[in-house]
Amino acid sequence: MKNKKFFIETYGCQMNFSDSEIVASILEKEGFGSTKEIKDADMILINTCSIRDHAEQRVRKRLEFMQSLKKKNPQLIVGMLGCMAERLKKQLLEEEHVLDLIAGPDSYRELPQLLAEVESGRKAVNTLLSIDETYADISPLRYDSNGISAFISIMRGCENYCAYCVVPHVRGQERSRSADSIRKEAEDLFNRGFREITLLGQNVNSYQWDTGEGKISFAELLEQVAMVSPLLRIRFATSHPKDISYELLQTMSRYENICKSIHLPVQSGSTHMLDHMNRGYTREQYLERIATIRKILPGCAISTDIIAGFCDETEEDHKETLSLMQEVSFDYAFMFRYSERPDTLAAERYKDNVPEGVKDRRLSEIIDLQQRLSFQSNKEDVGKTFEVLIEGFSKRSVDFFYGRNSQNKVVVFPVTINKPGEYVPVKIHRFTSATLIGEAC
Ligand code: 5AD
Ligand code: SF4
Repeated sequence: MKNKKFFIETYGCQMNFSDSEIVASILEKEGFGSTKEIKDADMILINTCSIRDHAEQRVRKRLEFMQSLKKKNPQLIVGMLGCMAERLKKQLLEEEHVLDLIAGPDSYRELPQLLAEVESGRKAVNTLLSIDETYADISPLRYDSNGISAFISIMRGCENYCAYCVVPHVRGQERSRSADSIRKEAEDLFNRGFREITLLGQNVNSYQWDTGEGKISFAELLEQVAMVSPLLRIRFATSHPKDISYELLQTMSRYENICKSIHLPVQSGSTHMLDHMNRGYTREQYLERIATIRKILPGCAISTDIIAGFCDETEEDHKETLSLMQEVSFDYAFMFRYSERPDTLAAERYKDNVPEGVKDRRLSEIIDLQQRLSFQSNKEDVGKTFEVLIEGFSKRSVDFFYGRNSQNKVVVFPVTINKPGEYVPVKIHRFTSATLIGEAC
């Protein structure tokens, strides 16, 4: 069993990518080696996402390819990890014969035992959710890293139960990791040359750690991590509009190395829809939060998530989403067509009654508008100078560096004497839809 090579393929959110690093660390500790070539692997683990039906269908298609690999190599072990494993559990073994192993997001410590079971000829399943698993003591193996930026997962689970969302059902209760273990991981990464850390959680504002002497809030944690070094950039995701605090914004304004970029999913611009979605805020409250951010953090980028065509969404509701987008002028957005997920409140109580064609049309109106807003946002950056953290060479040409500014925009500029991991001021001359282009100054 030992000396066997594993290959991990990851789908979905940043949390999943972070979990895959934990899985890799657990397996390496057991003596397995990682490979970047799927064809060299003795076991393939697919870390999956259930957020929309499309995400699951992609994985099912991919399993057909795994089946063809297994035909050539019957010893190959194929396992499914993550949200889809958690959602469908044992049922997957009946539906997908290629699978030998199913492990939910809280059972990765058990992977060595599960693999041993598979070796002895049985199929192995563990989809128990935990109330306290945070993998705090496991140092993630940064196997696919640029050596400059890394994720640190600070809390797991979500208890918001938005009506459309499968996450609380597959990721379980909220639990936070000790502030000490997070700070130490940040220090360790910094000492190894990393210069950017993203603190991850389904809902980072719910972070809370009881030291025994008092409670540490997310804002306090953020401050502790920012103090590791002024040369270490800190980002975080994702924030919930209903509980992003004044204290957090104040902390962000005090530390230059806390990046001025907030991802604040709005989902809809209609108060009626927000209520239906169980989001816990109104259109007006969301706009108030935005005004506060702009006041405390001028120049802060704001990005969002939007769902088109949720249950009972009227044309009026949709227009309110468009008008809110315009009012906020988001720098960037992830935009989705509503996809009903089993077990959610919406699936159980509401009708998925917006016709698919209408969902598509509304989504494309949202995408068109966002393209114009992003264009405007980039245009306003021309002539400005940003501090850019160099991440590497541009994919298009080794004559250009690639990096990001504090606002999380990609910046490309002709190479200088600097090295990846260093900061340089770059003056922006022009832009494309996804990139700012400039010159070091
Ligand atoms: N259908 C479409 N989009 C969804 N999201 C979550 N659940 C669904 C769903 N059932 C979107 C939300 C969330 C992002 C991660 O995915 O916008 O913020
Ligand atoms: Fe899903 Fe809402 Fe939790 Fe985000 S906050 S993971 S949308 S339930």
